[in-house]
Amino acid sequence: MSNEGKTVGFTAMKDGTVEDYLIIKENDQKTAKELPSRLIEHLKEMEKDDGAYKINRLEHVLQCATRAMRDGAEDDWVVAALLHDIGDMLAPFTHGQVAAEILRPFVSEEVEWVVRHHGTFQMFYNKSLNEADRNLRERYTDHPYYQSAVDFCEKWDQCSFDPEFQSEKLEVFVPIINRVFSRSPFENK
Ligand SMILES: [Fe+2]
Ligand SMILES: [Fe+2]
Repeated sequence: MSNEGKTVGFTAMKDGTVEDYLIIKENDQKTAKELPSRLIEHLKEMEKDDGAYKINRLEHVLQCATRAMRDGAEDDWVVAALLHDIGDMLAPFTHGQVAAEILRPFVSEEVEWVVRHHGTFQMFYNKSLNEADRNLRERYTDHPYYQSAVDFCEKWDQCSFDPEFQSEKLEVFVPIINRVFSRSPFENK
């Protein structure tokens, strides 16, 4: 029997019954199914964030994802390119970690690692930083995913601030988002 529309009887969790927690569980599953559409809505919000770049944040991630797709990258990488900056508006100091945690249940360990660390690898391009900070990525040279992070930033991220670039529309990526986020969470872990 469906618990749709029902609410729990408790006001403090310690007083909840098994039935209450089954209501919560069913609701959580519904919320999880809505994740792709919530991500898409959040991406649209990024259009409002134009900072000091020549293009807004949505256009930046569309460029990244378009480059990844045109390079023939797998779904995981295209979604990573599209979502790698999604935490920027709420977590300006840890946005890579936020994006990595959103992706982690659904993508490979390598893709998650690259998204998590992309901020450090992007520092290489920032000429206002001192030499040590620009080369902070070197602390990972022995890591198996080091080169993937270098390539992600060099080929897709650092170059995607170009107002002349013809990106694919967000709608083009919707089926890819749906494919990746309809996987069973943690199935590859
Ligand atoms: Fe970023
Ligand atoms: Fe970026």
